Amino acid sequence: MEITPSILTADFSKLGETLEDAVDSGINWMHMDVMDGNWVINKTITFGPALIRSIRDRLGPDVFIDCHLMITNAEETWSQYVDSGVDLVIAHIEAIEDPASLITSLHEAGCQAGLVLNPDTSTDTILPYLADLDLVLVMSVVPGKGGQSFMPEVEDKVREFREAIDQQINDGGRATKLMIDGGIKHHNAAMVAGWGVDLAVVGSGLINDKASIAENLAEIYSAIGI
Ligand code: DX5
Ligand code: ZN
Repeated sequence: MEITPSILTADFSKLGETLEDAVDSGINWMHMDVMDGNWVINKTITFGPALIRSIRDRLGPDVFIDCHLMITNAEETWSQYVDSGVDLVIAHIEAIEDPASLITSLHEAGCQAGLVLNPDTSTDTILPYLADLDLVLVMSVVPGKGGQSFMPEVEDKVREFREAIDQQINDGGRATKLMIDGGIKHHNAAMVAGWGVDLAVVGSGLINDKASIAENLAEIYSAIGI
């Protein structure tokens, strides 16, 4: 299982250095949490395409960047994120009307396509699109902020997606990646890895005042047994 950082708990005035520290620690996938002050229940604003463009320019082309859109109008604005240099756009299934056409548009624009669901949303909403998705993201907190507690009840959803993706791969289909996001720390990383997750987003467990990113990452990887 690979770890990708969420920057929500970072000091934004030092973001460039923080992300370079992450790269120096061996991280090569960055997770950008975009909130528009409207869609998430606590109405938070984080950042948008301009910041992502600066991060892309600073880190160069070799780091993979996804953007997790927690916004009301992903179907209208997705191209701004593609233009900002992301490799993968992840849209909330609860926030869009026509997933199939969004996936097609992203692929035609040369960008990978992902869908994400909230802890209380059924897997049935995303499974019909699995064959065309590059990534499925299961939220293990209610989206809105970093530092929340992990919701273990998402286990069944994760396992259901794992099974469906394995079946798809066995049938010669796409190797859709499975990601989890929210409340992952060194103490539960091995558990979610055991559920068959490919990538875990880690925010406050990686970027905090207690230790460096390299130390936190080493602790997580040693818990997973890497
Ligand atoms: C939640 C975001 C997350 C989250 C991760 O709305 O999507 O990426 O902030 O942070 P931690 O690991 O602190 O839960
Ligand atoms: Zn996220």
